[in-house]
Amino acid sequence: MRHFLTLGDFTKEEILEMIALAQKIKAQTKQRKFVPYMEHQTLGMIFEKSSTRTRVSFETGIYQLGGVGLFLSSNDIQLGRGEPMKDTARVISRMVDMVMIRTFEQSKLEEFAKYSKVPVINGLTDSYHPVQLMTDYLTMIEFGKEKNPVVAYVGDGNNMTHSWLMLAAKLGFELRVATPKGYECDAAIVADALAFAKESGAKITFGNDPVEAVKGCDVVTTDTWVSMGQEDEKEIRLKAFEGYIVDEKLMSYAKEDAIFLHCLPAYRGYEVSEETFEKHENVIFTEAENRLHAQKGIMVWLDAKRSEELEIRN
Ligand code: CP
Ligand code: NVA
Repeated sequence: MRHFLTLGDFTKEEILEMIALAQKIKAQTKQRKFVPYMEHQTLGMIFEKSSTRTRVSFETGIYQLGGVGLFLSSNDIQLGRGEPMKDTARVISRMVDMVMIRTFEQSKLEEFAKYSKVPVINGLTDSYHPVQLMTDYLTMIEFGKEKNPVVAYVGDGNNMTHSWLMLAAKLGFELRVATPKGYECDAAIVADALAFAKESGAKITFGNDPVEAVKGCDVVTTDTWVSMGQEDEKEIRLKAFEGYIVDEKLMSYAKEDAIFLHCLPAYRGYEVSEETFEKHENVIFTEAENRLHAQKGIMVWLDAKRSEELEIRN
């Protein structure tokens, strides 16, 4: 049985298999053909942080696959009152067929997965947001940016950046990261990504100059400067990130036909200007929609892996 905790756990071939499934199911969905790949299955969705896209896309996705989603906010379940993660895992995974969790530390997600009888999907942790990166790659393909792309990430060295590192390292493309001093990526995650990059031939560079990162690139991306859980640091962060806004001036250094990706929610006037955001709104909202399709690919792939295992066991 496989879990989906970080892209670092997958080979390039596996990532591309999930993307191919997502493309196939997206095409079927567009024809209003809802194939019940996961009929009668239940997806438990545990949220310890807020969400718009992750909740709606997973809930809609599992329903369109013939199953049902259970929205479990930590405020409403006993987890929020101190029931241990490992007990929550042992209870819920005896009743549902798959679990998605949005939480804080990656170790909490790993703890759940360790005790779970069913596949567990990372719906965002402080360290990674892998379902978003599968979505972003699907969107890059749809906008013709998957052939040896150069991607520039400008902003905070956070969960999104870490997942970009993993995607680039596994697929073997060029990623340039520009963060302010003191807001760089996690050193251990960088070390893992660079080890994968050695195998794949990915070129990953780090710096503090957004212009240097963006020069001649095909894809520009950023994320909020204040992630969930960092609200107390807001003032100090907004100061530290001055000069890191993605605006038309910065975009002018990218290729003429470069696309701009944003996982959303976007804070205009901070990490992105209103003008740049609206200029790229078609890509950005296709990216948002693709959460639905990419995650169906992931769920169906994980389910198939588990079924294979069950067949071998029987
Ligand atoms: N991009 C993303 O994960 O959005 P939500 O926080 O709304 O789920
Ligand atoms: N880095 C952001 C991503 C939101 C989807 C956060 O963790 O809040």
